Amino acid sequence: MAKQKLKRFAEFADYPHTFDFAYELQGKWHQEVFKNNNPIVLELGCGKGEYTVALAQENLDKNFIGIDIKSNRMWVGAKKALENNMNNVAFMRALMHRINELFAPGEVAEIWITFPDPFVRHRSAKHRLTHTRFLRLYQQILKPGGVINFKTDSDELFAFTQNMLQHLSITPEVVDYNVHTNPNAEPMLKNVRTYYENLFMGRGKTIKFTRFKLDDFTTDKAKAFEDWFETERLKLVAAGKSTGI
Ligand SMILES: C[S@@+](CC[C@H](N)C(=O)[O-])C[C@H]1O[C@@H](n2cnc3c(N)ncnc32)[C@H](O)[C@@H]1O
Repeated sequence: MAKQKLKRFAEFADYPHTFDFAYELQGKWHQEVFKNNNPIVLELGCGKGEYTVALAQENLDKNFIGIDIKSNRMWVGAKKALENNMNNVAFMRALMHRINELFAPGEVAEIWITFPDPFVRHRSAKHRLTHTRFLRLYQQILKPGGVINFKTDSDELFAFTQNMLQHLSITPEVVDYNVHTNPNAEPMLKNVRTYYENLFMGRGKTIKFTRFKLDDFTTDKAKAFEDWFETERLKLVAAGKSTGI
């Protein structure tokens, strides 16, 4: 393994504000980590944590936790937060599949999902971080009224997410098909560009954003969507296609 990667793994593990699969902190983040009752905001699949750090700089009255499985990437954000003496930032190495065991019901006020892997093959759809499988988990940890912010370059993943929300009868608060050309887009969406955002913009991709709440999410509706999706998937398989929903 590259020397730099090993160094970053070690430094990340040593930082005072970083955690590794911290199941023991479930329900205790306010008390034991942040030492205040300010709202907790998560960035899922945070990579280098651009949103975690930038949002924390702008919102000193909130706490931010960047989560990713790759600590060498999070090292970048963790180092920046440390150098800037930010006490409202933490990073945690973890997998999203058990996020409901990392936070207690209602412990989280808001979620950001920034440029998640799109998993465009429909066979892999269950790995999409906006899939109902994950929304079920997010709903468990979000406070009532808690919002999900989702930014992506992927037309397929964005369409999938909008389609899914429609099936769930959830009306998004914001749907923006090109953040960087929309004069009314929130400054934070234009000004903070993640590593992957820059990469994809360089390839000519437009950056899309949506914000929605899960208050109306029910397992019955989620199940109905999953059944519909499976039917559509089988039709595509029969037609020899592997992507498109
Ligand atoms: C395409 S990168 C985007 C990183 C960053 N948000 C950005 O925009 O530059 C997707 C990130 O999500 C993380 N990731 C994907 N699936 C995950 C999962 N199930 N649990 C934890 N991390 C995950 C990957 O390790 C990767 O860093």
